[in-house]
Amino acid sequence: MDGNGRWAKEHGKIRTAGHQAGAEVLKDIVKAADALGVKVLTVYVFSTENWKRPQMEVDFIMQLLGAYLKKEIPEFNANNVQVRFIGSRNGLPESVLEELDLVLQSTAKNTGIILNLAINYGGREEIVSATKKIVGAVQSGDLKVEDIDEKCFENFLYTGDLPAPDLLIRTGGDFRISNFLLWQLAYTEIWTTETYWPDFTPELLQTAVAEFGKRERRFGGLGN
Ligand code: FPP
Repeated sequence: MDGNGRWAKEHGKIRTAGHQAGAEVLKDIVKAADALGVKVLTVYVFSTENWKRPQMEVDFIMQLLGAYLKKEIPEFNANNVQVRFIGSRNGLPESVLEELDLVLQSTAKNTGIILNLAINYGGREEIVSATKKIVGAVQSGDLKVEDIDEKCFENFLYTGDLPAPDLLIRTGGDFRISNFLLWQLAYTEIWTTETYWPDFTPELLQTAVAEFGKRERRFGGLGN
């Protein structure tokens, strides 16, 4: 969800106003994704590197996130949205963790689209964390080294049982992965737009999905 700060600047507002506008847009995009038949929508809310931002901006995003999660529970439930979380709990404020746990618990039984929130998430951190869990499982005798393969490794990632993403949409015009789902994106199709996240629309989502539909995916093979 990139481009909030630049969107705010272009509108003569402070950066935090961009994050506020960005949070509002997410609601429409979740509904639009669901209507398009998307089963899992993962959004990059806050990276392990975003702590480097000015304290005031970090505090604002954390406060916005807590308030957003609290306010949206009825809407998530009305739309059968199951909210999940990927990232590290370490370092997240207690208030955010409380709201997060509440929304996870309140929506756990919903059977519609999965909204996977990447908060304090970093792809490298995720891989290191998975490695530590694997070493722990080997040391305790629950896992044999010879049983470690890609499938097994994947189960130790935050994404666990979720499928690898088919499509990555990056708003804001940059052409970078920015430490997002490093393992999972191996064969994901990438679509970028100059549009800043607060201006992202259901129509643009439709365009991205339609273009995805035209791609030939070979997964390293020769295709059809
Ligand atoms: C990237 O734009 C955005 C973030 C690092 C924060 C994302 C946060 C939100 C969309 C709001 C909170 C979300 C929820 C679900 C409540 P940027 O600040 O890097 O923009 P820039 O590249 O133009 O500076």
